Amino acid sequence: MSSRRPIGLAVVGFGWMGQAHARSYLRLPTLFEDRVYEPRLVVCADSLAERRRMAVESFGFGEASESWEAAVEHPAELFGPPASARPD
Ligand SMILES: NC(=O)c1ccc[n+]([C@@H]2O[C@H](COP(=O)([O-])OP(=O)(O)OC[C@H]3O[C@@H](n4cnc5c(N)ncnc54)[C@H](O)[C@@H]3O)[C@@H](O)[C@H]2O)c1
Repeated sequence: MSSRRPIGLAVVGFGWMGQAHARSYLRLPTLFEDRVYEPRLVVCADSLAERRRMAVESFGFGEASESWEAAVEHPAELFGPPASARPD
């Protein structure tokens, strides 16, 4: 059983960059054997239904939303910008 801490990820916009980042997250376990975090693709947001479908069915996101607000307010613990970069 892994002692790594799960860390949830939200990807907003599942075009070129969103898919590129999601592929990188999926590869992390093959690149960093000594990692302390286990990335989990929790939620993806995109305006296009086909991209939401692809995120869930091909990339393995837990869910997909049309609303980026719903994605970033997801109740799961999500990786986000450092506190210093967040608005008050
Ligand atoms: N492509 C690059 O090499 C690159 C490099 C650095 C930064 N960026 C930046 O990353 C961002 C995305 O670029 P890209 O190339 O992936 O674009 P893209 O057009 O391939 O993808 C954008 C995605 O966002 C979705 N989208 C647009 N508005 C949305 C909304 N309101 N809610 C939810 N989804 C929405 C679109 O449906 C699309 O799937 C841009 O800001 C771009 O400037 C891109």
